[in-house]
Amino acid sequence: MCGITGYIGYREAYPIIINGLRRLEYRGYDSAGIMLYNGNDIQFSKTKGKVSNLEKKVESEISEEGNIGIGHTRWATHGIPNDVNSHPHFSQSGNLVIVHNGIIENYNSIKQELISRGYTFKSDTDTEVLINLIEEIKKKEGVKLGKAVQIALNQVVGAYAIAVFDKSKPDEIVVARLGSPIAIGVGKDFEEFFIASDASPFIEYTKNAIYLEDEEMAIIKRGRKAQIRKISDDSSVDVDTQELQLNLEQIEKGGYEHFMLKEIHEQPRAITDTFRGRLLPEEGIIKISGLENNMKKFLNADRIIIVACGTSWHAGLVAEYTIEEFARIPVEVEYASEFRYRNPVITEKDIVIAISQSGETADTLAAIKLAKSKGAFVFGVCNVVGSSIARENDSGVYTHAGPEIGVASTKAFTTQITVLSLIALRLARAKGTLSSDMYRMYLQEMELIPQKVESLLKIDSHVKEIAKKYLLSTNCLYLGRGYNFPVALEGALKLKEISYIHAEGYPAAEMKHGPIALIDDRMPVIVIATNKGHYDKVVSNIQEIKSRSGKIIAIVTEGDKTVKEIADHVIEVPETEEPFTPLLTTIPLQLLSYYIAVMRGCNVDQPRNLAKSVTVE
Ligand code: AGP
Repeated sequence: MCGITGYIGYREAYPIIINGLRRLEYRGYDSAGIMLYNGNDIQFSKTKGKVSNLEKKVESEISEEGNIGIGHTRWATHGIPNDVNSHPHFSQSGNLVIVHNGIIENYNSIKQELISRGYTFKSDTDTEVLINLIEEIKKKEGVKLGKAVQIALNQVVGAYAIAVFDKSKPDEIVVARLGSPIAIGVGKDFEEFFIASDASPFIEYTKNAIYLEDEEMAIIKRGRKAQIRKISDDSSVDVDTQELQLNLEQIEKGGYEHFMLKEIHEQPRAITDTFRGRLLPEEGIIKISGLENNMKKFLNADRIIIVACGTSWHAGLVAEYTIEEFARIPVEVEYASEFRYRNPVITEKDIVIAISQSGETADTLAAIKLAKSKGAFVFGVCNVVGSSIARENDSGVYTHAGPEIGVASTKAFTTQITVLSLIALRLARAKGTLSSDMYRMYLQEMELIPQKVESLLKIDSHVKEIAKKYLLSTNCLYLGRGYNFPVALEGALKLKEISYIHAEGYPAAEMKHGPIALIDDRMPVIVIATNKGHYDKVVSNIQEIKSRSGKIIAIVTEGDKTVKEIADHVIEVPETEEPFTPLLTTIPLQLLSYYIAVMRGCNVDQPRNLAKSVTVE
């Protein structure tokens, strides 16, 4: 979703802001804009399209001078993506400038009120309404920018992260947040400040950052500490400056053509980092502090409800199988967006596990708040440290996958499955539902997964050859059973996200209840047929596809002979215990989607219409 960058200090603001916008491209956007103040004038440029289009426009439209500025990548909500609706937006006088992430839900009533007072609007956005409301309050109440922003934000309903500049106070920027993240990078001796939706735009300049909490705002002025206030009552809040763990290398492509490919290849390392210090097979233990500290709650729980969206929801489905199988605790997996609106039955004996890579997904956050309000204990599985969801949970674990920049989730998925499998095993041990021999065997097998993924990644060129044959397909079916049913869903999601080919995932046995009607010689069917679990049944499903001339791409265990004879293509994965097969079978599906999308000329890292952090409902 939208991204914000800003700078106030002694350096030229333009390169910092434009590079920052490039780093935020992964969030998904359709237009971009920038405002610079050079000591006398406000200059701005904005355009539909990519940051590279903005750079070209800036060259021909404005000078790049100024030590203060704000920039924005917009993901359209109110009004189509065009130059006018792009941010920044200006107040009627032209003195106040704003960039905004989120949605102002009551913008229309405020707009009508402002129109009746003589305001006119150039864009269709809710953001232009907000900046004019701030201007109206500033004039009417005779207050400074910070106070006007605080009063205005108490009148709006919705979600926001904003950065506001006032030409009459050109040495400060006011930022605020409710529901959308905002980080402030703090330079040496407060001589410069950086503003951004996450810390990636300023990582080479400072390791010190302040993350605003919901309902907080900050007045940032060069040469003094940032002042943080509560939006509700203007009371001051202690400043908590954190040291960033992120480094530049982690957020660059490192020689790969796309972030997605880099992230696929990072999975052996990411999975190892996920279980580092937690999985100790030698000692025969799993140690997850967030779980140990709350073990009683887990052991007394009537059931576990997992809430998540998209790929994280698929990881939740795998966890349903592992937790029920190992720990014998009933599990329900819910789309956060449905859960939050359907008046679910939640009791104090429920544990809610919320899964989110970004930790900013609006629906998942709302589901957590609902569960907490009903007394459930909420346990988070997040990747982004310090994210809104990580802070909102009662307890939780980080996946430690490292920054995931490609919009299509890859290493986040496998690390979520890894940590959830560890949780399932640890719970099983505590409940006594798994013998110590079996427990040790699973721990030892889990430790081997990264090297198995590593060896599996060598199939890259084989998958590329298969991709060539199917790049013109218009539909695709993915089938799997048991642990690999969620992998089928994830494979289909990956393909449609980045290649725009329509794809559906199904439990293999469900094929005969409908999707079989679609099968003909133009329909590629990707079947996960590893040798454990329901292998024979899946082989029968493959026969059914074959007899209807469907093209079969089968994911099989190394050495498989039966499927090889029937399928058009096979991709072999190393053997492992059944509950861990998703960690392997997912990899070829990620590569297949990647190569098909690349060959179709799609923008793999920033697919159309998609956003990395979905901070609106
Ligand atoms: C994954 O490829 C998607 N881009 C998307 O489904 C994503 O998993 C979903 O939006 C949830 O995001 P989260 O894990 O950051 O909460």
